[in-house]
Amino acid sequence: MEINKDADSRRLFKDLAWVWQIISPKEGYEKETELFIKMMNIYSKKNIQTLLNLGCGGGHHDYTFKKVFKVTGVDISEEMLYFARKLNKEVRYVNGDMRNISLIDKFDAVAILDSIVYMKTEDELLNTFKTAAEHLNPGGVLITFCKISKESFTHECNSNSVHKKGSVEIVSFKNFYDSDPKDNSVEGLYFFIIRENKKVKIEIDQHSFGLFSIETWKRILKDTGFEINVVDFNLREHNIPLFICIKK
Ligand SMILES: C[S@@+](CC[C@H](N)C(=O)[O-])C[C@H]1O[C@@H](n2cnc3c(N)ncnc32)[C@H](O)[C@@H]1O
Repeated sequence: MEINKDADSRRLFKDLAWVWQIISPKEGYEKETELFIKMMNIYSKKNIQTLLNLGCGGGHHDYTFKKVFKVTGVDISEEMLYFARKLNKEVRYVNGDMRNISLIDKFDAVAILDSIVYMKTEDELLNTFKTAAEHLNPGGVLITFCKISKESFTHECNSNSVHKKGSVEIVSFKNFYDSDPKDNSVEGLYFFIIRENKKVKIEIDQHSFGLFSIETWKRILKDTGFEINVVDFNLREHNIPLFICIKK
């Protein structure tokens, strides 16, 4: 089997979106979302009432955000939004691309969480941060994080896990690989062994992620016009930089 290094099938957000709900359930997001809320409240110059979540996926962060904010979620995948709408009936969901979406509303806070890794060029990062800035009220706060960076990336980024829901069991293997350290992307290969009613299926998926230095992140956030604060953040046992940025 041959796989092209730049392929980006992202089946996990399309025909395999149901698999995402099982391998990455909402319960796994509650603690980190509470911390994001705490950090936004510490740094924000205003009382946060409304939040825009760009790349909201299945709405697992929104499940906790909606307890304290009025939430709007944006995602490029209708399949993911189907699950988000089912989970969070109180949240408004809009299908769109965070690199260029333009809503009429302005918000007190914008979150761009585990979706930002899909920005693969500096222009894409810049355009996404511009989208955030354009949707913020003055003094509003953007929260985002750099999950993989040029400084921290290693080829030991492999993992496997087992998940069960009802009669379905999914074993998931993940492998990240940087086949060209000179460019700004890495490949992520996913293998799923799916068992149900004594039947076994194997599904393969490939994603391509952006990989930039922390200095590049800071420069682009500053170029967008944000005042930036960087906090060391422990996300699922990895220390990563959390950016809490204020719109001037
Ligand atoms: C890891 S998932 C997010 C999961 C989410 N935190 C949750 O609670 O389920 C990443 C999401 O980013 C979305 N995404 C990737 N590129 C995007 C873009 N350009 N605009 C909007 N959404 C995007 C994908 O469709 C996917 O739903």
